[in-house]
Amino acid sequence: MTKLLNVAGDFPLLDRTVRGGKPLVYLDTGATSQKPAAVLEAERTFNLRHNAAVHRGAHQIAEEATEAYEAARDAVAQFVGADFGEIVWTKNATEGLNLVAYGFLNATLGRGGGDAARFRLAAGDEIVVTELEHHANLVPWQELAAKTGAVLRWIPVTAEGRLDLEKLDVITERTRVVAFTHASNVTGAITDVAPIVTRAREVGAYTVLDACQSAAHLPVNFGELGVDFAAFSGHKMLAPTGVGVLYGRRELLEALPPFLTGGSMVEIVTMESTTFMPPPQRFEAGTQMVAQTVGMHAAVDYLNGLGMANLAAHEDQLAKLLLEGIAELPGVQVLGPTETTDRLAVVAFDVPGVHPHDVGQVLDDQGIAVRVGHHCAQPVHRAFGVHASARASAGVYSGPEDIEAFIKGLHQVVKFFD
Ligand code: ALA
Repeated sequence: MTKLLNVAGDFPLLDRTVRGGKPLVYLDTGATSQKPAAVLEAERTFNLRHNAAVHRGAHQIAEEATEAYEAARDAVAQFVGADFGEIVWTKNATEGLNLVAYGFLNATLGRGGGDAARFRLAAGDEIVVTELEHHANLVPWQELAAKTGAVLRWIPVTAEGRLDLEKLDVITERTRVVAFTHASNVTGAITDVAPIVTRAREVGAYTVLDACQSAAHLPVNFGELGVDFAAFSGHKMLAPTGVGVLYGRRELLEALPPFLTGGSMVEIVTMESTTFMPPPQRFEAGTQMVAQTVGMHAAVDYLNGLGMANLAAHEDQLAKLLLEGIAELPGVQVLGPTETTDRLAVVAFDVPGVHPHDVGQVLDDQGIAVRVGHHCAQPVHRAFGVHASARASAGVYSGPEDIEAFIKGLHQVVKFFD
């Protein structure tokens, strides 16, 4: 058995109590992660000493802020196996995914330079998504299809809660985009990316990877995965809210028309028209979230310090404990694989006859924080024949004692509603 990490002490919030003095058991990392002191401190120091708008001022503090902002970009690029110019700062993953979808739309509307034509969609073209997606990687593609006349198709989910890779023939010569999750926020299943990328390349389709749940839990290298675009959020990977990342292969970002327009992304502006900067600035309109990027840099340094392979091994053991513990409870159905192979420590489950909100409330009374509802992923719940579920999701700071408390709490739930 790999040695477990023991880093909860680095996360000040985890010290607090809830519901009348009960120690907090935080198992809602899939929704958002807690932040280590190093991240909180980096943001605070930036705001205390270096705060200024980037790429604008001629003064020293503006230079310092710009250096910090671009150093954070560099750190993130290395973290995900990308080049510096392939990393675009966004507000979150949702914005990154919309940025790509709107890039296609704007190209279809004739915007962008000559090479933007490669992103034009025509009626009857196909966009392939999957039944596993959370809404952030589904709704923007539905919208793009509705606006362009493209047809939305999807890779179905297996009974185990994985993408059905036997059904990749849904990707056809008409497919222009394949957007899919790297790891499901409901079933915890980790996608085998290679066959999807191979199939997409065979037909000349662009691939868009939703790395929201993977970036903080697995070693991730977009260059090696071979995807064209990928998006993730800082807040799920120990960084602040308000910062996310879009990765795009350089030649594609060069060609993609901008999504948000305004200051900081322009070259020449006349009353009639505007020329845009090269990427990544072309996609970073307006005053940027600099302190948050500095926090993201600290988060990446923190994760690198632990080692992503160690972190993945740690969380793998937590997944095992979660699945074994839930298996002791007769009738409780896991919405996802019940083995740890290619699986995160994100476990959604259904307690038959008990509404997930009631499950969540009884757990919360014991100081245990889980997510309840559809987790912004209604279709996959429908595939399992339920409307909603409760979900325990661990992070690097979670330990076996958290899982033990949760399983004990779940026994209480079952007893309470028996
Ligand atoms: N943030 C959403 C979750 O909790 C998608 O999984």
